[in-house]
Amino acid sequence: MKKSTLVTYAFAAGLFCSSAMAQKVLTVKANEPKAGIQPTMWGVFFEDINFGADGGLYAEMIKNRSFEFAKPLMGWTVQHKKFKEGVVLVLNRKEENSANPRFIRVTADKVAKGDLGLTNAGFRGMGIKKGLRYDFSVMYRQQSAGLQLHVELVDSTGKNLGGATLSPAEAGNGWHKQQVSFTANETAPNGKLNIWFEGNGVIDLDMISLFPGDTWKNRPGGMRADMVQMLADMKPGFVRFPGGCIVEGSELATRYQWKKTIGPLEERQLIINRWNYEYANRPFPDYFQSFGLGFFEYFQLCEDIGAEPVPILNCGMACQFNSSEVAQLSELDPYVQDALDLVEFANGPVTSKWGKVRADMGHPAPFNLKMMGIGNENWGPQYIERLQVFTKAIKAKYPDVKIVNSSGTDPDSERYHYLDDELRKMNADIIDEHYYRPPSWFLSNAKRYDTFPRNNVKVFAGEYAAHVDWSIRGEKRNNLQGAIAEAAYMTGLERNADVVTMASYAPLFAHIDAWQWTPDLIWTSNLNIYGSPSYYVQKLYSLNKGTHTVPITLNNEVVAGQDSLYASAAIDKNSNELIVKIVNASDKAQTNTLQLDGIKKLAKQASLIVLSGAELTASNSFAEPLSVAPKESVIDLKGKKVEIASAPYSFTVVRVKMM
Ligand code: AHR
Repeated sequence: MKKSTLVTYAFAAGLFCSSAMAQKVLTVKANEPKAGIQPTMWGVFFEDINFGADGGLYAEMIKNRSFEFAKPLMGWTVQHKKFKEGVVLVLNRKEENSANPRFIRVTADKVAKGDLGLTNAGFRGMGIKKGLRYDFSVMYRQQSAGLQLHVELVDSTGKNLGGATLSPAEAGNGWHKQQVSFTANETAPNGKLNIWFEGNGVIDLDMISLFPGDTWKNRPGGMRADMVQMLADMKPGFVRFPGGCIVEGSELATRYQWKKTIGPLEERQLIINRWNYEYANRPFPDYFQSFGLGFFEYFQLCEDIGAEPVPILNCGMACQFNSSEVAQLSELDPYVQDALDLVEFANGPVTSKWGKVRADMGHPAPFNLKMMGIGNENWGPQYIERLQVFTKAIKAKYPDVKIVNSSGTDPDSERYHYLDDELRKMNADIIDEHYYRPPSWFLSNAKRYDTFPRNNVKVFAGEYAAHVDWSIRGEKRNNLQGAIAEAAYMTGLERNADVVTMASYAPLFAHIDAWQWTPDLIWTSNLNIYGSPSYYVQKLYSLNKGTHTVPITLNNEVVAGQDSLYASAAIDKNSNELIVKIVNASDKAQTNTLQLDGIKKLAKQASLIVLSGAELTASNSFAEPLSVAPKESVIDLKGKKVEIASAPYSFTVVRVKMM
């Protein structure tokens, strides 16, 4: 760590004479704690959008492993030297197994290796890593043994990168699972999997699966470790899941139903992902939800990374942008029951029906669910009517569970005000606000919550992101301009921590070859990952949260846009530190003074963390993942007046130990 440009007032007076803006004094009163900052304050929003789950966080590498996509062989190619009708058939046993009706039947008539095979293309190809173990598994059924399956990974040119042979031995009418592992001998970003058949016989196959050996916590069938690590590094206070519009479905039939996402994988019924067809100009016909990452895995993820779960459930209404379909009130019971049962699944004793399901899945201890959302972006009197039914039932059975309530899709329309009024009349626990707005909105709304009522009704900024210029699409849209606007706005969230108790940027992940929505917090490819500038803003807030806000003012006013400067301050009562956040959203360097009042004695040094970039379009990429990333330094302190040199477009966090 190097000594930085932040120096004591006396020392620096002569150094910053070239500062382009008049020097201001920001006064911090460290001995006047105001609001408590909730441990949940900064969290993450997860949705299976942009290949966030299937093809993303859920590390399964086989696309359409159970042949349940709309086109049953999508993702698969049948390889045969001599074509023969019916050699590979997709069979449908809908009456017998409605959750997983299809499987594939291969009839091999004395085939040699290389004569007959199946190739899976992966989601957008497969990322293959040299030296890594790969676990192949399959469910099979055969009347007699006689076939061998040669499994091999190949690169985009067809070159073999490693493989193994599997000899299914069980015979009869039942299904069996068999696994074989092997190591890849080369790295390839865009590989495929071949399964070559050898021998004689008829075999039924289902749930054809391939996982890398390096999943998060090495869990078989688990999550991509690099993606979870990016979340764990943020130490998020909560994980909102599963969204997002995916909660609602574009029609009720495709709404998210948590009960269909737990238990044995082969019983989790696959459905279409609404982002498959949402945008006509970006169709993703191969986007489905396998629910391999379901509610059990979600609760486990929260536990792993120390985050509170914030599940959002369907309220009996489909997405109001897509359809006006609602469950009639007399048929709302199953929806309400789903909500009640989720609490039991998460928290119930192992002797309860759903607590037992959790225990049978390997987690007898409760997950300690404390809150849940009813409805995502739902609005209108139809929402309020349904919400009231849910609220009554949930509060009657689980009075301590807090309910997150939707305020619709935007922060200032008639629709929003109607809902906000109604929810406050209902004495709602938490109101979920969403805003996808230009950077200018974030800058001019940094005082949004300063005038909100101070009472029991709290706000969850449940989805937000600064959307720069619509002409920029894809990863480039995640630039410094958006990140700085968000950082500036977040000073207002922190200052109002007595009103805003949770906040999460959205969406979280995007695959570089499969995104529907930008900007996004974290970008992935088959092999790599990087955080956008916004990721580092979120991370800096989360890692420098503090326990209580303290005042920081400029001429006795909150610092919210004077000379494009934004600031908030907090103390951490556990570590006895003062944490000041300063955003310079202007294109000019500024040097300002921090007057630190209400502190008996300060440490001799402080740490300084700065996120900045040369221009507003500065961004990160796979080639330069840390182009816009925080830089840390240590500074010497002499007295309680501290000069802060803020570069243009910068976000600075100062941490000072109070003695
Ligand atoms: O974050 C992307 C989408 O934005 C969410 O699914 C939805 O809730 C909002 O409209």
